[in-house]
Amino acid sequence: MPIPTPQAASFDLFPTLTRAQIDAARTSAWHYTFEDLTFPAMVIDLSSSGEEEAFIHWLESDSIFLPEGSEGANPPPASISPIEESAASSSRPRASSTASNASSSSSSSEAPVYRLPNLNAAIRDALHKYGGAVFPKLNWTSPKDAAFILPQTSSGPLHCQSPSDVYLLLKSSDFISHDLDTERAYGEEEGSAGGRPKIELVLKKYEDINPAREVRCFVRNNALIGVTQRDLNFYDHLQSEETRTQICDTVRELWEDEIRENYEGGPDYIFDLYLSPKMTSAKIIDFQPYRPSTDPLLFTYDELLDITETAFEPPSDSEVTRPRLPIFKIIESRAHPDANRNAPAYQANMMPLEMIEMGEGRNMAEFKEAWDEAVAAGMAG
Ligand SMILES: Nc1ncnc2c1ncn2[C@@H]1O[C@H](COP(=O)(O)OP(=O)(O)OP(=O)(O)O)[C@@H](O)[C@H]1O
Ligand SMILES: [Mg+2]
Repeated sequence: MPIPTPQAASFDLFPTLTRAQIDAARTSAWHYTFEDLTFPAMVIDLSSSGEEEAFIHWLESDSIFLPEGSEGANPPPASISPIEESAASSSRPRASSTASNASSSSSSSEAPVYRLPNLNAAIRDALHKYGGAVFPKLNWTSPKDAAFILPQTSSGPLHCQSPSDVYLLLKSSDFISHDLDTERAYGEEEGSAGGRPKIELVLKKYEDINPAREVRCFVRNNALIGVTQRDLNFYDHLQSEETRTQICDTVRELWEDEIRENYEGGPDYIFDLYLSPKMTSAKIIDFQPYRPSTDPLLFTYDELLDITETAFEPPSDSEVTRPRLPIFKIIESRAHPDANRNAPAYQANMMPLEMIEMGEGRNMAEFKEAWDEAVAAGMAG
């Protein structure tokens, strides 16, 4: 009788993920497990603060007005007496957690008022705790496509110093809408089984990050298969064999010692690390589900599938040595098509809808005037 030959392992391009596995990649789900290995962060659960409905109402309204009292690192002085305030606002539509008449309508010249006092206070707490600057995210996603909306600082993008900075980013971002949409967050099947994702605002201590030391790492079937540099520029110091080996050793060690046994999102996931200057240790920046919406950067998901299948092939006599895992990819030449991209990141997302709508039928000077007025009215809220 012929001896059966072991079957080659077969994997799908993407694993099937449960809602629980996708939820494991929320910052709130992994942050406390890995607290010593990641940057300080505060998670604000909007339903616990009683403002989830009001927050969604504000975020989804097609107005650019920011919640009242959100500007500045400190709460605004309570200089307006209740009588003055009610007189000043009685003519304006209101958006409180219960009011639904606050539609912002661009047709109305009145500025709608949105109130999120608990959220304002929580953001100010985080600012105070973290030395004056925070990096905001929702459940899984940061508003990095909206970085252009804040003035550039030497500190880096998404540098928020007031609640209004946080709101401005969230309001201008398309990326964060992924976290609010059940089907996009959980996929068609899992999404239909449960309600809308609960909304958490994550405020991380703002760190001075050197993108040259960020890597993205891929785990399939509980094997660390690939690592790629995260920022797609050519970096001289990553080129030496010694540095590459050091990075792979550091990533493998951290994954084996800390992540493999403790991460709760199943056998397939992707995580991002920030390496120390000498590449000998690392901090965790983020986890994400193993799915198409996570950018594979210098890999393609087909390549990652090949690597996985080779890694799990049954041993054969004629076996040539298998590649040592993880496979590490960097940009090896200044001429690489991805290197030194001149276009600003996420330029396709650089125009909030309101800007486009306001621009219609106006020349540049009129548009600027209308925009400045709208922003001033929003900030004055
Ligand atoms: N605490 C922080 N302080 C300053 N910058 C940060 C901080 N955390 C992350 N960053 C920077 O912002 C970038 C995006 O952050 P992060 O990976 O958390 O966003 P994301 O929305 O999850 O991105 P992706 O969609 O690629 O997973 C990081 O690559 C890093 O350069
Ligand atoms: Mg992420």
